[in-house]
Amino acid sequence: MLATLLAASTSLPLLAAAQSAANLAYTPVTGACPAGFTLVRQAGTPGNQTLSPDEAAYISGRKSNVLPNAWKTYLANLQATNATLPAYVSSILGGESNGEYPNFGIACSGGGWRATMFGAGVLNFLDARNTSAATLGTGGLLQAAQYLSGLSGGANLVGSLAQADFPPIEILAFGDNSADPTNAWGGWLAQINQQDPYTNATMNDEYIQELIEEISGKYHAGFAVSYNDVTSRDNGRHFVNGTTADNFADNTLLHGAGYLWSAVANVSTFASYSQPFPILVATLLSPNGNMSTLIPGGTFIVPQSNPIMEMNVYEMGSYDPTLAAFAPMKYLGTTNESVCVTNYDQIGTVVGASGDWNTIYNTSESTLVNSYVYPVVTALNATLPQTNIVLDSAVFANPFNGAAMKGQFIDAEESIIMMSDGASDGEAVPLQPLLVKARGLDTILAVDSNQDYATEYWSAGGSLINVQNRISTLFPTAYSFPPVPTNTSEFIAQNLSTRPSFFGCDSSTEAPLVIYLANGGPPRNGQTPLTNQQPGNVSLAETQAILDQVYDIAAQGYPTDATALTDPEWPACLACAVVDRARNRTGTERSGVCATCMTRYCWDGSTLGLEATTTGGASALSRSGWGAAGLAAVSLFAVVGGYL
Ligand SMILES: *[C@@H]1O[C@H](CO)[C@@H](O)[C@H](O)[C@H]1NC(C)=O
Ligand SMILES: *[C@@H]1O[C@H](CO)[C@@H](O)[C@H](O)[C@H]1NC(C)=O
Ligand SMILES: *[C@@H]1O[C@H](CO)[C@@H](O)[C@H](O)[C@H]1NC(C)=O
Ligand SMILES: *[C@@H]1O[C@H](CO)[C@@H](O)[C@H](O)[C@H]1NC(C)=O
Ligand SMILES: *[C@@H]1O[C@H](CO)[C@@H](O)[C@H](O)[C@H]1NC(C)=O
Ligand SMILES: *[C@@H]1O[C@H](CO)[C@@H](O)[C@H](O)[C@H]1NC(C)=O
Ligand SMILES: *[C@@H]1O[C@H](CO)[C@@H](O)[C@H](O)[C@H]1NC(C)=O
Ligand SMILES: *[C@@H]1O[C@H](CO)[C@@H](O)[C@H](O)[C@H]1NC(C)=O
Ligand SMILES: *[C@@H]1O[C@H](CO)[C@@H](O)[C@H](O)[C@H]1NC(C)=O
Ligand SMILES: *[C@@H]1O[C@H](CO)[C@@H](O)[C@H](O)[C@H]1NC(C)=O
Ligand SMILES: *[C@@H]1O[C@H](CO)[C@@H](O)[C@H](O)[C@H]1NC(C)=O
Ligand SMILES: *[C@@H]1O[C@H](CO)[C@@H](O)[C@H](O)[C@H]1NC(C)=O
Repeated sequence: MLATLLAASTSLPLLAAAQSAANLAYTPVTGACPAGFTLVRQAGTPGNQTLSPDEAAYISGRKSNVLPNAWKTYLANLQATNATLPAYVSSILGGESNGEYPNFGIACSGGGWRATMFGAGVLNFLDARNTSAATLGTGGLLQAAQYLSGLSGGANLVGSLAQADFPPIEILAFGDNSADPTNAWGGWLAQINQQDPYTNATMNDEYIQELIEEISGKYHAGFAVSYNDVTSRDNGRHFVNGTTADNFADNTLLHGAGYLWSAVANVSTFASYSQPFPILVATLLSPNGNMSTLIPGGTFIVPQSNPIMEMNVYEMGSYDPTLAAFAPMKYLGTTNESVCVTNYDQIGTVVGASGDWNTIYNTSESTLVNSYVYPVVTALNATLPQTNIVLDSAVFANPFNGAAMKGQFIDAEESIIMMSDGASDGEAVPLQPLLVKARGLDTILAVDSNQDYATEYWSAGGSLINVQNRISTLFPTAYSFPPVPTNTSEFIAQNLSTRPSFFGCDSSTEAPLVIYLANGGPPRNGQTPLTNQQPGNVSLAETQAILDQVYDIAAQGYPTDATALTDPEWPACLACAVVDRARNRTGTERSGVCATCMTRYCWDGSTLGLEATTTGGASALSRSGWGAAGLAAVSLFAVVGGYL
């Protein structure tokens, strides 16, 4: 593979003419705003909160045209396993309970390539198109989800999946070999390192210089450019259509430039409401944040009171009360209602903002100088010099600048807003968009492969703990979240991350039920663990092996017999959790396998497997404040010379 790259690249101009096709396609376009254009949409607060009309129309279209059949397919897969399900499961999923369907969403955490692949393996386990998952009785849940959120490594997954037209996971990972290699989806190319694709250091330098050349049009058009724009062009080669291993080094191609996040609305599965609504999450890196809400002791750099930013294909903004406003994605880059910018919302840029971890290395000059960030920002600033710009974050022209936003948004007086990795505030599982009350989700599958252990790459609930603290301390009325333990030691002691755990089963609040499926430890089948690492470049065979092992981890469930490899009831138990809130609305009591499953998989406030003794509720358990996450405060994911 690399031999091909090396050979190909020597015959191609590395420093192409100043205006390569990718450079032109990456340059924002400025023009008059359309008639009636509104830059900022006030999203309201839970009492009067609204979704964008486009999103509301998408969800409504999905609910009427797609989800009834999706739930039927899932139910048919479940029934084919001959599990003895209580009648209410079939009635709800079959559409025979007065239209009471589950309102289901999936969140895919950050954690670099590990998270991209862990999330993908779990989605495979939920995908009706995967014959193993269909036979197991779990395939079909992916098709039935309303929302799919992704952060950092998980944003690479969710972003690439949405723009590639929602292909099956095997095609997402390895590409669509039958299609046009310059336009179609060519796979993640995880075998090619993201910052250093070559074994030759000179060629790696030339590669970075090529990426910088591709963003020079944006710079010369008067827009600030940063490390994230460089990342964007690399992301374009890994997570956007048009690049294969064979054409990777051909700098005459677009490599994803000009592919816009807003234009994902035009891919066929989106136009037919056939994919879960994709949302990418970043944090706001602000000079005006309240640093006393920063989780101490770790590598976090964004205080929890800063708005969590979401980027969906229609809008960028936040439902947090500290912003509660959105700007149209298609006009990202626009700062007033007369001059409109388009072509700024490049997929690589938006996905990159969710995973821009580079700011973590800028704690001191010596740390920065010794990091992988330094040669890139140095080369960037040497070629495209800028002053008064933080070069190592993602920088977006600020649409929320102005008198109207003063007092509502900390950066109302900044001309640029900066974004950092979605996990920079300690919340690596992108739950916040799925907790927005106007979205009305009642069941969330939280997929977590973030690193919570000090020296190993296993997850132990740190993000859930931090979400719990953020909501209970800062946003108790904006969001509801079910009780979870207050420290990672407790997650570890109770094995809550080494097997699926349900939170909020008996909560009397409006909190959704959270199904937590984490990368908490090796698979039970005794295979050599593959998911406790941070891979930099992963061969195709290794990628397949990781996807297969994650599938096994997702499928093992929580066996009652300690020596068993899998819980034969797990697919049924998962269905019991998915329908549980809808069950409650129909006034039906839990029964049959669901009664025992919900007892076994639910965390009731003290331990797993006991009947609930309290009503749960967001205030029923005592909370500790900042820093309660214990081990979770340790670095999220170490990076060895690569992007997240
Ligand atoms: C929502 O309600 C709040 C408080 O009642 C009010 O300040 C705000 O203007 C309202 N927002 C919208 C978008 O209606
Ligand atoms: C389910 O039961 C049917 C009828 O007895 C049988 O043909 C089928 O093989 C069973 N399926 C499974 C997965 O056990
Ligand atoms: C990417 O390519 C796939 C085919 O591999 C196609 O279905 C999809 O529409 C393309 N996406 C975009 C944004 O052009
Ligand atoms: C590295 O690549 C450059 C061309 O970009 C070439 O001149 C040099 O010989 C290569 N070095 C090695 C060790 O292959
Ligand atoms: C979708 O395609 C139509 C027709 O080509 C075009 O007019 C529209 O601008 C596109 N939408 C987006 C969001 O790119
Ligand atoms: C900053 O956060 C702390 C902790 O929540 C709070 O006590 C303080 O009032 C906040 N300061 C400002 C200016 O909002
Ligand atoms: C609107 O923004 C553009 C930059 O995109 C700027 O050139 C122009 O002066 C602004 N117009 C007003 C009225 O502020
Ligand atoms: C970028 O270069 C300019 C000089 O061209 C310098 O003033 C500025 O400080 C540099 N920025 C960074 C972040 O090094
Ligand atoms: C490092 O951070 C400081 C403080 O935010 C900022 O002024 C500086 O520009 C950053 N350096 C780079 C290379 O972005
Ligand atoms: C973690 O939480 C448990 C249960 O609340 C508590 O007993 C324990 O002391 C806590 N451990 C740490 C390290 O904070
Ligand atoms: C529904 O949930 C509420 C709140 O937990 C509970 O009080 C009620 O008993 C439940 N109803 C049924 C039928 O399970
Ligand atoms: C289903 O997923 C498993 C595990 O990743 C994989 O081995 C298998 O090839 C997939 N099947 C299909 C049809 O995609």
